[in-house]
Amino acid sequence: MTDILEQLEARRAEARAGGGEKRVAAQHAKGKLTARERVELLLDEGSFEEYDMFVAHRTTEFGMAANRPPGDGVITGWGTVNGRQVYVYSQDFTVLGGSVSETHGQKICKIMDMAMQNGAPVVGINDSGGARIQEGVDSLAAYGEVFQRNIEASGVVPQISMIMGPCAGGAVYSPAMTDFIFMVKDSSYMFVTGPDVVKTVTNEVVTAEELGGASTHTRKSSVADGAFENDVEAMSEVRRLIDFLPLSNREKPPVRPFFDSPDRIEESLDTLIPDNPNQPYDMKELITKLADEGDFYEIQEDFAGNILTGFIRLEGQTVGVVANQPMVLAGVLDIDSARKGARFVRFCDCFEIPILSLVDVPGFLPGVTQEYGGVIKHGAKLLFAYGEATVPKVTVITRKAYGGAYVVMSSKHLRADVNYAWPTSEIAVMGAKGAVEILHRADLGDAEKIAAHTKEYEDRFANPFVAAERGHIDEVIQPHSTRRRICRAFAALRRKDKKMPWKKHDNIPL
Ligand code: HXC
Repeated sequence: MTDILEQLEARRAEARAGGGEKRVAAQHAKGKLTARERVELLLDEGSFEEYDMFVAHRTTEFGMAANRPPGDGVITGWGTVNGRQVYVYSQDFTVLGGSVSETHGQKICKIMDMAMQNGAPVVGINDSGGARIQEGVDSLAAYGEVFQRNIEASGVVPQISMIMGPCAGGAVYSPAMTDFIFMVKDSSYMFVTGPDVVKTVTNEVVTAEELGGASTHTRKSSVADGAFENDVEAMSEVRRLIDFLPLSNREKPPVRPFFDSPDRIEESLDTLIPDNPNQPYDMKELITKLADEGDFYEIQEDFAGNILTGFIRLEGQTVGVVANQPMVLAGVLDIDSARKGARFVRFCDCFEIPILSLVDVPGFLPGVTQEYGGVIKHGAKLLFAYGEATVPKVTVITRKAYGGAYVVMSSKHLRADVNYAWPTSEIAVMGAKGAVEILHRADLGDAEKIAAHTKEYEDRFANPFVAAERGHIDEVIQPHSTRRRICRAFAALRRKDKKMPWKKHDNIPL
């Protein structure tokens, strides 16, 4: 018996050694941790339950029969993050470049199936040379099976992709279908075809970093939702994110202990809005002053800064925040911000996370580039996403809410549950200057008349009271009491039950 146990331990040690000392050292030299080190950092200490440690591929071609490392280049299993169950796979670049074979794919599929069945998120740690070249179509089929599970799991369990090395070819499409993608600066990249193929086909000369590094995907393409300095930071930040999320669509988000009174008054908010309506202020200040303990987990921080998206907690409960940011392009809605906001709203809705919208929006961005880029279709995404979301929706207008953008930003007309406005709100078809120029074109040369018309328009519309008279705004509130008001609003909505008409699925403009 002792021998048998020793044999088991020897086999385990062989699997744990991955690609061996030399390859592990090479991995460390690139500033990357090993697949196992990453899993250890992601999960609570000692909580990892590994599966399929001895799985080996069955290929015999290209001399592969003599190279059958246990585990086949991916570590899979489950563990806990702050006590809550999470499934994980972590590709081991030191073993056959973390490449995906038939059996490697089967290991990933197994934990994805378990995650869906048992209702727990999947975190995929990607560090791979892509489809295992020696296996041909078998490895492509393995990817296909993973893709299909990504689709089936979408909206069932949260799926998070960590890109921590190369991610090339069709391999990028599994992460692309997950809820969040995070990269590590200077050591990860994603592209459909690498720099060499790009040069051959389009004659463009570009480095891997420029083509698909963290900065490219968080700032330009918006493929990635965030980037971290190194592997350690990446793992601790994904733990923080998981803390905000429900384990599946069968559960509500977790309620954490909180030490911040829901009745907290923030006097400073009474002077947040500058006297001059064209002067910006930082909407992030409002978000952090409303949140429990000032904690805001921002998603897509580096992309479309004119809209802010992320998670806060109110009375310990997760709330998704969508907020116009007057500091960037005056908080205007455009193609990028509408897409960013819409995807976030849809994530919140499929996982029962209530949505707080903070509105200061001068309208949609005009221009040829926007129209040619399809701002009509992309803007409609945000409109559609808000209108179809049945989670509790609370809206606070702080200043401008003009035109179509007023309707889009979680207005009463899109079935928001509670709509508040600060006394500084201006709810109208457009700002005074634009309106007067259209309504009183004949008087444009006469400064005195224009001033009088502008004053008349401002007196009528540069306030929230017309909307409040109609009931489109439920209450005009004091800025300093906003935290108390929104906490009470969400508390009143905890048992909200709203259904949309039956359909197979909707047809959101893509
Ligand atoms: C088999 C692979 C491999 C692969 C790497 N390796 N990629 N083995 N299949 N796809 C092996 C290498 O042979 C090497 O083995 C070890 O992993 C480390 O690779 P290196 O090249 O030495 O590492 P590095 O210099 O860091 O370069 C990493 C790399 C490069 C940029 C990822 O290996 C590379 O370009 N690989 C091929 C990428 C690719 O084209 N993949 C197919 C994409 S198409 P030894 O034994 O020498 O250490 C795809 C389709 C998916 O994925 C489709 C889904 C529908």
